[in-house]
Amino acid sequence: MLGRIVPANKEWIAEAGQMIRAGALVAFPTETVYGLGADATNGEAVARIFEAKGRPIFNPLIVHVLGLEQALIIGVLSPAARRLIEAFWPGPLTLVVPRTETTDVSQLVSAGLPTVALRSPDHPVARALLAEAHRPLAAPSANRSGHVSATRAEHVAADIGGKAALILDDGPTKLGLESTVVSLVDGAPVLLRPGAIPAEAIEEVIGERLLRREEAGDHLTSPGQLASHYAPRARLRLNAYEWKPSEAVMAFGAISEQPARAFVNISEGGDLIEAAANLFATLRTLDASGADSIAVTPIPQKGLGEAINDRLRRAAAPREQP
Ligand code: TXA
Ligand code: MG
Repeated sequence: MLGRIVPANKEWIAEAGQMIRAGALVAFPTETVYGLGADATNGEAVARIFEAKGRPIFNPLIVHVLGLEQALIIGVLSPAARRLIEAFWPGPLTLVVPRTETTDVSQLVSAGLPTVALRSPDHPVARALLAEAHRPLAAPSANRSGHVSATRAEHVAADIGGKAALILDDGPTKLGLESTVVSLVDGAPVLLRPGAIPAEAIEEVIGERLLRREEAGDHLTSPGQLASHYAPRARLRLNAYEWKPSEAVMAFGAISEQPARAFVNISEGGDLIEAAANLFATLRTLDASGADSIAVTPIPQKGLGEAINDRLRRAAAPREQP
């Protein structure tokens, strides 16, 4: 019964909302990747998320809300935060802000930090679930900690199926890359995680450059940003121009297909949006080919390319934890 994949229709969303209120975990689609959700105000339910994902307890979770009104109860929003919310919510932008003193969001969600990450998803199923649950939803990506994020219900089932009470299936997610995470806690805004909204678009709205993680002090960087993350079983070889026939290949742009164990072009036309949407599913497919190494052809470091290259570098990094 656990881990059952069900269609994301009205009836199942209503059922899922009740399950959330009862403290269960429900996996649901967002416009970025699938999330594993729990009532953010229920400490035990939130603890179950960490357990289900095998996630280190020092890595805080994103709280999903319907919009500004709910966000104001949980976080302290600066003028810059409000401008960004107006420009990008609902959508793939997560803001890390100070917690309000009165919020009933579990401390565990924030991993003990005085801050909270807020995002309003732009997906009808995620929004209907938020409305049915009448609660803010703590929801990390619905994959085992350190694995590639899940962009399809079947990936959720394969990774953490047994831990979710239900998996609401609405097909492949549209963007395929997680939200951009920006810290607006104090001082200069920091890009904690490049994501589905390019940094340039955010900088335009706040009229200020975002510090990159390398430039910000340690205390500001995203606690969950382990160097090794999003890791497939196979090794990744980045910026490859050639490959051995025994390797699997993830190509981008006008690359001619040479013999390989498996070959997938994530965007023949060189479109970074299409490439982002295909990234995680392709890593899973190529990993399943059984190749020991996945060669990845170069991807430009502009727009969404910054987030794609970030995920690829993490997938290629030496493993820090199982
Ligand atoms: O697109 C997304 O953001 C997906 C969907 C499901 O919404 N969620 C997602 O969650 O990617 P997760 O838990 O896999 O990544 C959340 C990131 C982590 O890098 C975490 O460290 C950071 O946000 N984060 C959360 N709360 C934070 C806080 N209070 N301070 C700094 N970083 C925080
Ligand atoms: Mg994740």
